Amino acid sequence: MMKILVLHGPNLNLLGTREPGVYGRRTLADINKALTDLAEAQQTELRFLQSNHEGALIDAIHEARGWADGILINPGAFTHYSYALRDAITAVGLPAVEIHLSNVAAREAFRHKSVVTAVCVGQISGFGWRSYTLALQALIDHLVTV
Ligand code: DQA
Repeated sequence: MMKILVLHGPNLNLLGTREPGVYGRRTLADINKALTDLAEAQQTELRFLQSNHEGALIDAIHEARGWADGILINPGAFTHYSYALRDAITAVGLPAVEIHLSNVAAREAFRHKSVVTAVCVGQISGFGWRSYTLALQALIDHLVTV
């Protein structure tokens, strides 16, 4: 059984009502349900954490070293400046996939830079809630083939 940590960063608890024109109308619970359904069909166990706190996300990444095969992470705005989050991903050495609901490259200039992409297997951005299911499938396929 493959095991994957799913991390949702700051403000993603507000999905559903937060700028629906940008992030869609699905709630975080809807997204986690879609991920759970996909994971079950692929004999994969998921554990979820949403936090608005950088340190809590970092602690979860550290703890993942004990049990997870890989990490899915939407770091929210931490994407653009958190070297601490980036270092945590590097430190644990687990394969991670970076996720964004919106197409960050098509938005404000400060969103064009990600400090985490370079330490991830890859980034999926711009497909709304489907960015998550695409990323889960990509990570599972990556874990199976490496
Ligand atoms: C986001 C994009 C970030 O720039 C933003 O700060 C978020 C959400 C996305 O999923 O599109 O909080 O990561």
